Amino acid sequence: MTHNASRRFFLGGSLAATAAGAAGIISPASLAASGQVVKPANLYGPKPGIAKLNANENPYGPSPEALKAIAQAASSGGAYYAYTASQYLTDMIAEKNQLSAANVAITAGSSLILAFAAYAATSKGVILGPDLFWDTTSMAPVRTGGPQIKRIPNTANLDIDLDAIYQAIDDDVAMVHICNPNNPTGKLLEPTKLREFCVKASKKTLVLVDEAYNELISDGPSHSMIPLINEGHNIIVARTFSKIYGLAGMRVGYMLGSPENIEWIEQFGLGGYSVNQAGLAAAIASYHDEGFKTFSRDKVAQAKEMIATAVKENGLTALPSSTNFMFVNLGKDGDANTFRQAMEAEQVLIRGQYRSYTPWSRVSTGRIEDVQMYVNAMPKALDTMYKAIRA
Ligand SMILES: Cc1ncc(COP(=O)(O)O)c(C=O)c1O
Repeated sequence: MTHNASRRFFLGGSLAATAAGAAGIISPASLAASGQVVKPANLYGPKPGIAKLNANENPYGPSPEALKAIAQAASSGGAYYAYTASQYLTDMIAEKNQLSAANVAITAGSSLILAFAAYAATSKGVILGPDLFWDTTSMAPVRTGGPQIKRIPNTANLDIDLDAIYQAIDDDVAMVHICNPNNPTGKLLEPTKLREFCVKASKKTLVLVDEAYNELISDGPSHSMIPLINEGHNIIVARTFSKIYGLAGMRVGYMLGSPENIEWIEQFGLGGYSVNQAGLAAAIASYHDEGFKTFSRDKVAQAKEMIATAVKENGLTALPSSTNFMFVNLGKDGDANTFRQAMEAEQVLIRGQYRSYTPWSRVSTGRIEDVQMYVNAMPKALDTMYKAIRA
């Protein structure tokens, strides 16, 4: 992957440069111009005064227990590859899901194993998915000359159209990619319907369900497709420590599947080499921390309430969200890119337009004070957007 491609991967294409600027990231170009490397005050997080609501992180993490574990792991294990801790977390995950260690692969964030799955699938055929989903990893092989994703339109309500996806499975399809709850819509599929789809579709091809936001749903386990792996269906499920656990910067994610599927996908990766001691320590300390998860869920609920109220007060609508972000409809003349720029001028970072969905704007929940900045900035940012559209 080139330097530019990897930046695109993390920051989102053309939005990367402006988002990086507002977040206070020093660009290689500015370093070259200055002739010296200046350590930014915000090397490890957003610049003070910036409301970072563009990447669905949980800024309330790492939990207190995770912070202690990170310090301990870094001092006693930082010099060593993380073999034992990686095995230990693998066993914890296997045990919780009533699977074995051979059913689990851990990587530096779920993006990595999701990308490996995409490379594995496209070595055999095409990936089939909805028009609107978190396609970053399924797009990775496309950028290196692999087949385009076969996309099926979302319904009028922006739901994933499972029936149409099922109908579209043919011999060329090597993997179906479903994200539930979906990003960027925040919508959750009805679990019985998704289960039926997964059972049926997995008889024809491999089905990937990305459950990155599952723990944000209060009854997450009843929405998970992990039990289908136990029942022997051809299904893989991705999970991450980046969302509810508040460990996006610590980079730990995992995939569950049959030993055969896990082994096949891991061939495209590096096995345990990608994970680090501090991230693993944080994940191990957080995995069963129900107190921290409840605390985080409460903060997300409070933030979503604030966003929903602001949306209504400004005459807009938003989709119901089962995640830590909301998909706001800026109206028929709305323009998510112009709105994003107007928000950035108010020190609030949000996402711009997705594909052809011009009026749809995604905002993450974050620290309550950051969400308050978004709420406060909304009337002015909308006004700026309307003026720009009329100009
Ligand atoms: C649906 C979904 N899956 C996976 C990821 C990647 O998460 P990570 O690589 O941090 O585990 C994201 C990130 O936003 C996401 O939205």
